Amino acid sequence: MKLPELTIGKSLKSKRVLVRVDWNIPLTGELAGLDSLKLERTFPLIKDLSKHGAVVILMTHLGRPKKQEKKYSTKNLIDIVKKQSGIRLRFLDKKLDDPKGLSQAKKLIKVAKPSTIFLLENVRFNKGETENDPKLAKVYSELGSLFVNDAFASCHREHASVVGITKLLPSYAGPSLMAEVEALSKLLKKPKKPFVAVIGGAKLSSKIGALESLLKIADKVMVGGAMAHVFFAAKKMSIGKSMIEEEAIPLAKKLIKHQKLLLPIDVVVAKKLNEKTKARVVRVEDIKKTDVIGDIGTGTMLAWSQIIRKAQTIVWNGPVGVTEIPTFSNGSKVLNQAIAVRSRGPAYGVVGGGDTLPVVMQSGMGEWIDHLSTGGGAMLEFIANKGKLPGLQALTKELKN
Ligand code: ADP
Ligand code: 3PG
Ligand code: MG
Repeated sequence: MKLPELTIGKSLKSKRVLVRVDWNIPLTGELAGLDSLKLERTFPLIKDLSKHGAVVILMTHLGRPKKQEKKYSTKNLIDIVKKQSGIRLRFLDKKLDDPKGLSQAKKLIKVAKPSTIFLLENVRFNKGETENDPKLAKVYSELGSLFVNDAFASCHREHASVVGITKLLPSYAGPSLMAEVEALSKLLKKPKKPFVAVIGGAKLSSKIGALESLLKIADKVMVGGAMAHVFFAAKKMSIGKSMIEEEAIPLAKKLIKHQKLLLPIDVVVAKKLNEKTKARVVRVEDIKKTDVIGDIGTGTMLAWSQIIRKAQTIVWNGPVGVTEIPTFSNGSKVLNQAIAVRSRGPAYGVVGGGDTLPVVMQSGMGEWIDHLSTGGGAMLEFIANKGKLPGLQALTKELKN
């Protein structure tokens, strides 16, 4: 898929450039992992456009607001962005789905000095955003003269600020979007073999598409985390009181006999998943009724690390244990080390996932991995759908409606 790339130069002076970013980050606590990556990756484009005298109009969603609440206002991002990048944003709080608000916004943009950077209010406050309403796309299009999508993490959403807008303005892919697509495409197009995948996390149903795709294109797929419990249950093995997504058992049953699928051979269990608990490593056949699984076991850590050490292509999404609790974070840390070391060496390594990236980044080995993806759902859908995402197809005009 060839995406239209924006050339930044003098011709952009005083042009109104509408840029979709994905600054959907939790506003509580310190910025970590995925959150800081999501912000940092967009700063070069914004600085570059402003340096060349464009008037930049940024838009993002923030959370999944049911109604317009202050906690979801993008105004909350202004100080965070300033602290991270020095970029000064001018907040445009006008209600765009109201004709008066739209006309005020247009006036403010029209009289703005070159290099001004506006930030629009949360796009999900606008009626029709998540429905990809053409009326709202038209409203957005009136604010700018060209559109740049630099929001890979939103490209799986067929929304007005991602898809609809591209039908009305000349539209381009921003640099961080280009980089994501290039990096993830290497997993799909002739990956060097052996190609191994580690998939973990909470819910099998949320990753089933990517898992099925990886079972086709990779040589080995290691499944850990609570997702593995569903496979154990599908095999009628006892998992004690461990977390389980019951509804996904039929999905697991379909894949259970797949040759490439590897499940943990042992696990770390405890009576409860908390900081103070006493944990044991047991073989998966020996899990007791009162046990709760919190991590892959030491035998699995070793076996899977050995597989990773021989790989030429590696992809990892989803922790293999409850990384929020140190006792159950070792499996993910050990695999992270193996993946980072091997990626620093001959293999091509890609990691993504909101709960996976903190493990990588806290280890200090993040830079050894070839690509850290900002797309949680978007990365999984990219893998599941052979690189096709609504936001990308819209840029190449493949998505017609
Ligand atoms: P990512 O955001 O990286 O894609 P997910 O959101 O799919 O990852 O899954 C992360 C969550 O899975 C974490 O909250 C972690 O505690 C949970 N998890 C992993 N292993 C287990 C387990 N054995 N039991 C319960 N929860 C688990
Ligand atoms: C993400 O955090 O994965 C993206 O920002 C998409 O958010 P959404 O799942 O609320 O559409
Ligand atoms: Mg998560």
